Amino acid sequence: MRVLVSGFGSIGRRHVRNLRRLGVSDIICFRSRGVDTRPLGADERCTPVASLEEGLERRPDLVLVTNPTALHVETASAAVRAGVPVFVEKPLAASLVGVDELLERVESLHLPAFLGYTLRFHPTLVKAQQLLGTGAIGKPLTARFFVGEYLPDFHPWEDYRQGYSARSDLGGGVMLTLSHDVDLATWFFGLPQEVFCAAGRRSQLEIDVEDVAAMICTSTEGPIVEVHLDYLERPARRGFVIVGEDGTMEWQGTQGLLVVRRRDAAEPQTFSPPAAFERNEMFLDEMRHVLAVLAGTEPNARIPLAAGRDALAVIEAAKRSARRRRPVRLGSGRDPFDLTGRVAMVTGATGMLGREYVDELARAGAAVVVTDIDQSRCEGVAEDLRRTTGAETLAVAADLTQESDIEQLVARTVARFGRIDVLLNNAAMNPAPGSADSESQFQPFEEYPRDLWERELAVNVTGPFLLTKRVGALMARAGSGVIVNVASTYGLVAPDHRIYAPGQYKSVGYAVTKSAILNFTRYLAGYYGRHGVRVNTLSPGGVEAGQDPAFVKGYAERTMLGRMARPDEYRRVILFLASDASSYMTGANLVVDGGWTAW
Ligand SMILES: NC(=O)c1ccc[n+]([C@@H]2O[C@H](COP(=O)([O-])OP(=O)(O)OC[C@H]3O[C@@H](n4cnc5c(N)ncnc54)[C@H](O)[C@@H]3O)[C@@H](O)[C@H]2O)c1
Repeated sequence: MRVLVSGFGSIGRRHVRNLRRLGVSDIICFRSRGVDTRPLGADERCTPVASLEEGLERRPDLVLVTNPTALHVETASAAVRAGVPVFVEKPLAASLVGVDELLERVESLHLPAFLGYTLRFHPTLVKAQQLLGTGAIGKPLTARFFVGEYLPDFHPWEDYRQGYSARSDLGGGVMLTLSHDVDLATWFFGLPQEVFCAAGRRSQLEIDVEDVAAMICTSTEGPIVEVHLDYLERPARRGFVIVGEDGTMEWQGTQGLLVVRRRDAAEPQTFSPPAAFERNEMFLDEMRHVLAVLAGTEPNARIPLAAGRDALAVIEAAKRSARRRRPVRLGSGRDPFDLTGRVAMVTGATGMLGREYVDELARAGAAVVVTDIDQSRCEGVAEDLRRTTGAETLAVAADLTQESDIEQLVARTVARFGRIDVLLNNAAMNPAPGSADSESQFQPFEEYPRDLWERELAVNVTGPFLLTKRVGALMARAGSGVIVNVASTYGLVAPDHRIYAPGQYKSVGYAVTKSAILNFTRYLAGYYGRHGVRVNTLSPGGVEAGQDPAFVKGYAERTMLGRMARPDEYRRVILFLASDASSYMTGANLVVDGGWTAW
């Protein structure tokens, strides 16, 4: 039996020690990054490999995925593709992106796959689950799960600010890190229909993730379930109280005691873990179970990988609820504007409107690929998004006129997320009148330089063409996807040169390329319609952004609403076009221009 351990931090090392105690000695390990610098003990020895690929080439019988949460799906998918069973530490992933594909592949290959929800091996929790199943306290009406643990006390030997629990880029945050208690709730009561959550960072801890979350989970049949998680409480506390029609059940996690009070019994019943029980026994039992399933002597029923999806679905819904400050429905009642689990790529993402769009899509639950011409600006926007919305992000600079840049943009996105669900072709050459780089773009037609004309064609039309060729093919293969192309009122009607300063004319290149986008959309909608890919155009009107007051006045007078747009007024329109809310719309042009083109 050979085991490959990917990620050799505290939990990876614990599993290695336990595997050795269980007689597994052929252990290889791949360590991607390390904050756990404690020297290795004799029982933690393993053969290092330089990469995951090298580890997989050695044909292990099991891969333990114990690296930071943000890398779980990528690592587990590589193992599963190589046909190797996986054990993934909890939580299953930082978001639902790529999770269903992973589960489908595991199922189609009939591979044993496990999720490290170790509390499911705690003797009094096993008892609690059995008692609930046999109706010991009658129909459960309400349940309160709570866990509080001061983050710097987790791993006193490392700087808490560097650990994955503290960092949004590694999939941290109290909801993901302390997800055991969410798992207990879904293990006992199944997936709720609706989740409401308040969450945020309330302490002075130097972290960029939430340190407290309070969730309320409801369903028509099941109890009202509250889950409270925090990084704040000292000493640590964990437990739950379940109130049923015929009694209550209380778990005092710190001592591991389960107390059952039945209405018809005078005395409570108390269940304790065996004498001298210590925490590591759950981990040992967990590995014993994994080895037994691999040996074919036990069914894979205690910690199947799919268990991780339920907890993650609740956490994703809770994060979205906290951002939106309203309840979020799961399953069939899903909000059509919900983009949870989807990957959205936005070009021109660091521009004025691009920044609005990436924020809106991230708040709707999407993982966002931030792409524009400058890498450091892409990283800045991606970092900001991650901090303010908790979304997964990827920053990749690409000049859309360069095919090689586009290739690496798509390749890096696929390597990270495995898919693209939404492509927003938003980038364009669009300097505001009066801005430094705008001079040549406002020249009279006869003087308009050929190289500028060609550059506008290259950025505004050839760029979307080159990128969509690659992304459209991926979407068609997946059988779903949404492409949104951004045009302009100036793609529908001629610019009104009278509103520009004397001698200035809106670029002919802009008007021609924006009208080209309209038929680019219709062409693609026809081409991809039967492959489940929808393609639409948004035609925005002018946004007020510090232009000359005479121009703003002239523009405003040409609109029915008597004003230019605010930068935030297209966000919801983009969300509508990018989500299932527009599921029967394709080949269309949505004009949002304050009435400019309507009279
Ligand atoms: N702002 C408006 O009033 C308005 C009105 C109608 C339509 N639009 C359209 O909305 C979209 C966004 O406009 P904006 O106002 O945010 O413009 P913006 O100039 O602020 O953003 C455009 C972004 O595209 C990027 N870009 C330019 N060339 C590129 C290239 N070769 N490769 C990759 N990225 C490149 C720029 O770096 C920039 O960040 C554009 O398609 C524009 O035509 C804007």
